[in-house]
Amino acid sequence: MLEKPFKTMKLQFGDKIYDYSKPEPEVVKAAEYLCQQGKQVVLDLGCGAGRHLLYLAQKFKVYGLDKDQDLIKKAASNLPKLRDKLRVGNMTATPYGDQFFDAVIANQVIYHGTKAQMSQTIKEIYRILKPKGLFFVTLQPREGQAWRLGKLVEPWTYVTSAGPDKGDTHHFVYRKEIDGLFGKKHLISVYQDNRNDWCVYGKK
Ligand SMILES: C[S@@+](CC[C@H](N)C(=O)[O-])C[C@H]1O[C@@H](n2cnc3c(N)ncnc32)[C@H](O)[C@@H]1O
Repeated sequence: MLEKPFKTMKLQFGDKIYDYSKPEPEVVKAAEYLCQQGKQVVLDLGCGAGRHLLYLAQKFKVYGLDKDQDLIKKAASNLPKLRDKLRVGNMTATPYGDQFFDAVIANQVIYHGTKAQMSQTIKEIYRILKPKGLFFVTLQPREGQAWRLGKLVEPWTYVTSAGPDKGDTHHFVYRKEIDGLFGKKHLISVYQDNRNDWCVYGKK
């Protein structure tokens, strides 16, 4: 064990309850897949306070990036052995060199912002991945979001007006849009998990 476990923290988004005290089952599944594929250097993009870092550090040489300085400070204080692998930065323009990572995991992250920002983040993921690099990202579906739509910014991008992520901008996608955003040839598997979130596995 690198450090003490995180305290229980459950947040409700509409009718979905997310337990931030333990790794998301889909992230565990993705990490197992990346391990089987021999991936070693992995970025937890939008790592927040480090919910998955401890788990990922047991399998990979893991790095964490988040735009929120307070969350990165929290992650560094919870996981001091990872301190030098944690950075504050924006997913649309990360501080890493080209082809630095074997894999990128971004759980509940890249839909924060407009569609153009999501596209830019995807470009950035391709830039920092090695030639045979893999990624796992989750996206928010268009259906079931009535409670969080808030102020319309552009088609299917809203500033959320209620709940724990009030004030955040979110872009919601439909299945075909995912092909266009990532490029069909890069997609390995796309499905909706038991909360209907899109899970996207892909390759550079
Ligand atoms: C819903 S939380 C998910 C955190 C973590 N990935 C997890 O699964 O528990 C979204 C995270 O994305 C981060 N984030 C949002 N926009 C970002 C951006 N432009 N660049 C980097 N991180 C961002 C937030 O600060 C937050 O920590």
